[in-house]
Amino acid sequence: MAEVEDVKSVAKISTVVMVIAMQAEALPLVESLKLIEDDTPPFPKGVPWLKYSGVRDGLQVHIVSPGKDDVLGVDNVGTVSGALLTYATIQALQPDLLINAGTAGGFKAKGASVGDVFVATEVAYHDRRIPIPILDKYGIGATQTISTPNLLAILELKNGKLSTGNSLDMSPEDEELIKSNDATIKDMEGAAVAYVAHLFSVPVILLKAVTDIIDGGRPTSEEFLENLSVAGNALLKIGIQVLDFVNGKYITEL
Ligand code: ADE
Repeated sequence: MAEVEDVKSVAKISTVVMVIAMQAEALPLVESLKLIEDDTPPFPKGVPWLKYSGVRDGLQVHIVSPGKDDVLGVDNVGTVSGALLTYATIQALQPDLLINAGTAGGFKAKGASVGDVFVATEVAYHDRRIPIPILDKYGIGATQTISTPNLLAILELKNGKLSTGNSLDMSPEDEELIKSNDATIKDMEGAAVAYVAHLFSVPVILLKAVTDIIDGGRPTSEEFLENLSVAGNALLKIGIQVLDFVNGKYITEL
């Protein structure tokens, strides 16, 4: 497992970027934080990516989102958009801390309920199967996130391992790897955002609100759509608490 030792921990946190894939997840935070959309975001010309910025109690806060697919008009979810956006964002904004906030499925057998907000302690992929020695481990790509014991204790957040793949549903092959990743929650961006953040030694927190119970017997897509606003509200409340908690602290104090 990759250890994250060389993250920027020398300066107090003064600039935070939240990477949020879905507009339904991002906009409540944008409104509540009174962030302003950047008409000329620092991204390559023509990409649909969005940036909203503002200041909260001295903390520079940006929310970036991969925007909509130009043909289908739906949110650009998944690892490819997530990684590209994270790359461009780090280059442009040099944040002290990245927060990938979004929704996830959760396993009730591991203590997840709809509306819970989790901090992922570790993240890995479940859809990069390469059955060749060593490449199998590379595919899984297990990566630790930064340690945040004070954040977890003070905000009373649940924590667990996250598994990332590009599907909302779960094939039998995915299920096998998710279980061997010991995951409590499952999403579509976390491992990719963490990979890019680690490339540039930017600390990252993966904050995930549960919309659906994977081992609950209901169709995932139905439960996901039904609970999107419940999870969005939870993410709004906890997202702001996290911003207030990290403001002005060293990474080592989280
Ligand atoms: N986001 C919300 N629910 C999810 C699930 N079950 N799998 C992947 N991403 C999700």
